[in-house]
Amino acid sequence: MNDRTQPGAPAWPAEPTVPDAKADPRLDTRAETRAETAADTRTDTRTHARGGMAAEIAADLAEAATQLAEVVTPGSRTAEAAALPRPRITERDLAGLERAAVAVQPRAHAPYSHFHVGAAVWGEGQSFLGVNVENASFGLTICAERNAVAAAVSGGVGKLAAVAVCTSASPPSSPCGSCRQVLAEFAEDLRTFRVIAVNPDGERREWTLEQLLPDSFSGAELPGTGR
Ligand code: THU
Repeated sequence: MNDRTQPGAPAWPAEPTVPDAKADPRLDTRAETRAETAADTRTDTRTHARGGMAAEIAADLAEAATQLAEVVTPGSRTAEAAALPRPRITERDLAGLERAAVAVQPRAHAPYSHFHVGAAVWGEGQSFLGVNVENASFGLTICAERNAVAAAVSGGVGKLAAVAVCTSASPPSSPCGSCRQVLAEFAEDLRTFRVIAVNPDGERREWTLEQLLPDSFSGAELPGTGR
């Protein structure tokens, strides 16, 4: 049984069955960045004319410079600055991640609950997608977030910095407890790991993973296996 459609969802081609950035540019979270970079290189005047985008690029550059300074001169940051959570993903990449979660949501296999979930995780400059995959033996269902994490790990990326989750709920649903624990296993830093919940209508909520899973259990507590 297959239930790829949901009320109001855009029709989705039966093929390809694997998320394909070429077929749907929304699934390539870096496509817009590349397009913008190319456009900005072509004309300076256009960049200046678009104040919003120029400001966004400036913010990304400032953020990159801060992170680079930290790598180049470790220990140079003040204790106060070190205590502040630092973003590990640019706002532009995060926006792309949110669009990818929305785009992949209709691929959910949810013929039993009809609750379609799309997820996109981001780490080490790459994003990976997942949807919830239900089974007639209900307990075998796997959530979208955990499928996205599995895709990342299978792709060789085990340090994650953000997840975007798309449901049709209003307000958008946050990840379940099991998914929070699995995300924590691969979170680069719980305090800066960004969790975004969206729905196709444009509603949005945001937390850090630390907020959603305080005082979490981790491998560091297992004798001899601390990460
Ligand atoms: N589900 C997810 O994919 N992620 C969550 O964080 C919560 C729940 C799925 C599992 C099941 O297929 C459906 O939503 C209803 O629980």
